[in-house]
This record gives sequence, C-alpha cells and structure tokens, in this order.
Amino acid sequence: MICIIGASLAGDMAAATLRQEGYAGPILLIGDEAEVPYDRPPLSKEALTGDAPESRFYLRAESWYAEQGIELRLGAPVTAIDPAAHTLRIGAVEVVKYEKLLITAGARARTLPGMEASPVPAYVVRTLEDARQLRAALRPGTRVAIVGAGVIGMEVAASASTRGCHVSVVDFADRVMARVLPPELSAYMAELHTSHGVDLLLDAGSVSLTATGIRTSKRGDIDSDLIVIGIGVVPNTELAAAAGLACRDGIIVDEYCRTSDADIYAAGDVTRYPNPFGGGDIRSENWKHAQNQAVTAARNMLGKEEAYGAVSSMWSDQYDVKLQTVGDIGTGAATLRGEANSRKFMLIYQNEAGVVLGALGINQAKDMRFVQMLVEKRAVVEPGLLADPKQDLRKLAA
Ligand code: NAI
Repeated sequence: MICIIGASLAGDMAAATLRQEGYAGPILLIGDEAEVPYDRPPLSKEALTGDAPESRFYLRAESWYAEQGIELRLGAPVTAIDPAAHTLRIGAVEVVKYEKLLITAGARARTLPGMEASPVPAYVVRTLEDARQLRAALRPGTRVAIVGAGVIGMEVAASASTRGCHVSVVDFADRVMARVLPPELSAYMAELHTSHGVDLLLDAGSVSLTATGIRTSKRGDIDSDLIVIGIGVVPNTELAAAAGLACRDGIIVDEYCRTSDADIYAAGDVTRYPNPFGGGDIRSENWKHAQNQAVTAARNMLGKEEAYGAVSSMWSDQYDVKLQTVGDIGTGAATLRGEANSRKFMLIYQNEAGVVLGALGINQAKDMRFVQMLVEKRAVVEPGLLADPKQDLRKLAA
C-alpha cells in the first residue's frame, strides 16, 4: 500500500503517476479538506469573479479516482506517522499500514494576530471554502483592505476591483510582488493597479487589525468593510517533525524527493530540496513545482533514481495582463523584447557568457514556452537576436 497525505495538486499528480508508471497495488490518497481535489490558482481569480460552477476547479471528475483504483479519503486528518511501524493514524483511532508514504501536505496561509476575533470580517484565500466566503462578501462598493502586496494580495486586488469594490493594499515592503518579481516589474504591476483605482500603501510599517479596519505604523489607518490577509504561507511540517523527519522551514528531501526516512517521500510546497541550479536548498511555492516534483517523487517511489531538476515557473492573471516568469529572473542582464511598459513585452535574463537564465513575459503565453526551452537547454544566444521581435524564438529554441 502506498499512502499519500495531502489530496491537492501534488498528491493527486503523484497518485496518477503511480498508476501511469504501472503500479498496480493499493493507493490511499488522504485529504483533510472535504472537497474533491481542486486547483488553487482560480481561487483568487475566477472563483471570486466568474460564474462557473465549482466543479470547474476540480482537478478531475470525482469518478476518476475509483476508476483508477485510488481510494480517496476526504475530510480525514492524518494525526500521526510512526515510521518505525510503517503506520499512520487518521483521526483519533484509525491506523493504516503503508509500505511507502508520500507527504504532500502543502502549506497554510499565515495570519495576523487577532484575525479570528476581528470585528471587521477578515479572510485568507487558501481553500475553496475561503474563496466561497470571500466571494459572497465582495459586493460593488465594498471597502476592501488587503494586507500583503504579494501574489495573493495583488490577484485579489484585481478581482475585487473588477467586482466594483474600493480596494486598498498595504505592505511593509516598498514594492509589490517582491518575492517573485524584479523591481522594474513591480513598478509595472503597481502602475497597472493604480490605473484601476487601487490604493497602494507600500512601505507602510507594521500592520495591525483595529475595530474598524487596519492600522499601519507609517501610513495611518484604513477603515474597511472587510480585510483580506495575504502575507505568505507556512509549510505544514508538524506531522513530519513529530515523526522525527528532518525539517527546516519545510520537510528536508534529497534530490530524489526522499525524506530522512528511506520509505517516506515528500513533494510540493511542503518540501525544502536541493536547488538543481546550485546555491543550497530552497522551498518553492508554485503550481508547476508541485506538479513536477510530485511526478518525480512518484517515479522514485517505484524504484527509479531520477533527480528533480525542473526549471521553476509561475503565472498570474490580473486585469488584462497575463504575467509569466520562468527560471532565474533575479540575476543577470535583461534584454527587452517588444516595447517596455506596453501590454505585450518580454524581458530575457542572461549571464555574462550569454546563457539564458530566465525570462518574464507580459501577455507572451506562446513565446514563453520557447524561452523555457532555452532556459532548460542553458542555451547561449546573442542578446541582439533575443531583442529582435522578428526573430522566431521557436527557431532559436529548436
Ligand atoms: P507572498 O509571499 O507572495 O506575499 C506576501 C506579501 O506579504 C509580501 O509582499 C510581504 O512583504 C507581505 N507581508 C508579510 N508579512 C506582512 C505583514 N505582517 N504586514 C504587511 N505585509 C506583510 O505570499 P502570498 O501572496 O500570501 O501568497 C501565498 C501563496 O500562494 C504563495 O505560496 C504563492 O506562491 C501562492 N500563490 C501563487 C499565485 C500564483 O502563482 N499566481 C497566486 C496566488 C497565490
């Protein structure tokens, strides 16, 4: 029996991969949420603005799991792992024996002190239930104060503003989406939001909740009808740590996705893994990583010895902008392809030797695929070619 703790993207992908790779034994996929496994990217976007039924966000039809012989246990919190006995406990009493275990327990939203008791309703956006509740509260004219100008904060700002709300965003950082964007793109995204009427209060000092909204130590008070908190996530490592697995802001895994116990693997947001591009270990919080690392973990659980080395990437949809990044965009020299500050351009990052390290695109969905190939190949390209929109990136990547 292979057990998987965490029935979200990584857990689901791992279960599917085990079957695709020919594993015919029992698979138990356990989730503490009561929902059919669903995709999280829409939660801060379509789930707040669109009218699609929630089933549209499901990763697969509910019937698929039974068809694949994957036992799906929902609303079932795993409360302990005993690596020596090869067992896990669900709830208070049920004990399940495993041969191999995969932990894809993900991460939870960080909160601010006093959030639970806040007189002004305060929300995080991590689960489908969070999105349901926030959606119901976002009515035209509602004053929305958002704490955190990261990806959640800015996506919710775009959604709430599109729904006709008055939106303010505060952050102690001095630029938006600082974890995932270089400064020049933070400025671009900030301008996009202010052009839609969003009030951005950056470098705001410390933030606390008040009876009427939020207080910042440097930018004053903001009265609001509701508060959204998007100040990062905390990996769900408690279960692993209690079982004696090595953890440090994430469950430590090797390049084969193995934890410090030979029969326990981990994948997705919850892991801290060796950076395939050097420079120690990292934790990655993005959809592609959860998907790719789960596939590698599942294959290795079946005896393959594949090192995880996927190039990271992310995307974000805000208003009419699809922002995408791939690879390393924090270092190297940037080449502009297209017109800066327009609604369609790309920045491509290279090191001194001309190796393509990463790229960032605004409404460049097609070409980003080819830049990703250049990054994966560590291709050396003349910057002048990258800068020329007449040069076909597909050909350069071939
Ligand atoms: P984040 O790390 O992107 O941003 C958190 C922001 O909160 C930062 O700007 C930080 O300076 C600020 N902050 C932290 N503590 C604060 C405090 N006490 N007061 C004021 N500001 C504070 O995390 P975020 O936006 O919460 O996203 C959570 C997770 O969801 C991440 O794992 C993210 O990757 C994922 N996500 C990904 C999306 C995408 O890839 N398009 C979309 C939405 C979420």
